[in-house]
Amino acid sequence: MSSIKSIAIIGLGYVGLPIALLASKKGFNVIGIDTDIKKIKSLASNKSYIGDVADDEIIHTKASFTTDATKVSEVDAVIICVPTPVSAEKIPDLGPVRGAVSAIAPHIKKETLVVVESTINPGVCDEVVIPLLEKLSGKKVGIDVYLAHCPERINPGDPKWNVSNINRVVGANSKLELDMAVELYKKIIDAEIKPMGTIKEAEAVKIVENSFRNINIAFVNELAMSFHKLGINLENVIDGAATKPFAFIPHHPGCGVGGHCIPVDPYYLIEYAHNHGFEHEFLRLASNINESMPRFTVDLLIEALNEVGLPLKDTKVTLLGMSYKANVGDGRESPAHVIRDLLVEAETNLTIYDPYTPEDSTTNSLNEALAGATAVVIATGHDEFKNITPSLLKKNGNLVLIDGRNILRSQKEAFKNNSIIYTGIGI
Ligand SMILES: NC(=O)c1ccc[n+]([C@@H]2O[C@H](COP(=O)([O-])OP(=O)(O)OC[C@H]3O[C@@H](n4cnc5c(N)ncnc54)[C@H](O)[C@@H]3O)[C@@H](O)[C@H]2O)c1
Repeated sequence: MSSIKSIAIIGLGYVGLPIALLASKKGFNVIGIDTDIKKIKSLASNKSYIGDVADDEIIHTKASFTTDATKVSEVDAVIICVPTPVSAEKIPDLGPVRGAVSAIAPHIKKETLVVVESTINPGVCDEVVIPLLEKLSGKKVGIDVYLAHCPERINPGDPKWNVSNINRVVGANSKLELDMAVELYKKIIDAEIKPMGTIKEAEAVKIVENSFRNINIAFVNELAMSFHKLGINLENVIDGAATKPFAFIPHHPGCGVGGHCIPVDPYYLIEYAHNHGFEHEFLRLASNINESMPRFTVDLLIEALNEVGLPLKDTKVTLLGMSYKANVGDGRESPAHVIRDLLVEAETNLTIYDPYTPEDSTTNSLNEALAGATAVVIATGHDEFKNITPSLLKKNGNLVLIDGRNILRSQKEAFKNNSIIYTGIGI
């Protein structure tokens, strides 16, 4: 078994760029490869395009970056970090994975270890990656070249957990491939590397983790819709339940679930199981509930405006936050986009502000965004929005606040005392 000294990372996004930089820091010769010329040009001019990666890291890295996939002929291992989206109909799109495998297969040398880090459902390595790799490389996987799966768990914007300190699982189809991949990751990651029994188990781990989160969020979102009618403050109930020292994990309701992982990954299992004769009704229901939250949020706005005798149409509404999570600039699958579309469709007089996605904003500051708005809807819990106070809204003439992330719930009474209608999700 040859020791791996050089690695190519295919796909330099939220997952690929941090692992490329880390592997280089750990002494590997790293070539980062991406089809997006804009990203390669940005890296060439020492500019990061990812919030968690500082320009300084690009300046000091020994890794090189290119669009040229033939460069994989120079390395001992290839790590694939390309996107795994779903279509508008929620059907998994393995196009980027197929594209990456097709691009590298003709050029990899004998004994190269290929690792898929992209999130994939059980069966993708065996049924999609191996046949394509063998066909286009002319090499037998497990004998001439090797394959493993090591799903990434990175959590963008997380100050504690990052690419280097999150435990990993690794799966492969033979002991040789498993040992190679475990040895490689032990040299890159400063955390536990757990070998799985099969490659399918490793694929399933990632989908199960993210489906677990999607389901738990769906549960509290359903409770939010119920408790809104029952007049029970769900956040207070969750705080109460969280005092139980075992068997309860607090999750919080919100105006929807976004990002490239949580709302997407369950569909990979749903579709795969469906094709094998099993219907994941529970997973489908959870996704349906979470996907209904932007509509519920707009309904809360309609309800609150009714209280002051105003229609949605032509009312001056300010939408705060477009990215899918607090303090990051990633807009993928963001429920804020659905809320925006519903508000546009309802012909509101709409202003949008997100300090992390200026391209989505119609104004440049929170003060400008609030000025003269009748209603304010918070769709993303950015820290800047936590500075909103009842007196600030009163000064700007805002009558209604819909808090889609419950970030201002501690001021609920104070908003009421200032004649501002405050409605959170389930509170
Ligand atoms: N973003 C997250 O928080 C996160 C966390 C854990 C796992 N994942 C998983 O990791 C994978 C990558 O996600 P991401 O967020 O980094 O995506 P991303 O869109 O940020 O980055 C993917 C990159 O791959 C490039 N690419 C696409 N096809 C290519 C090809 N054929 N050859 C070379 N480059 C190609 C794209 O240009 C892009 O730069 C997905 O499967 C995702 O589910 C993401």
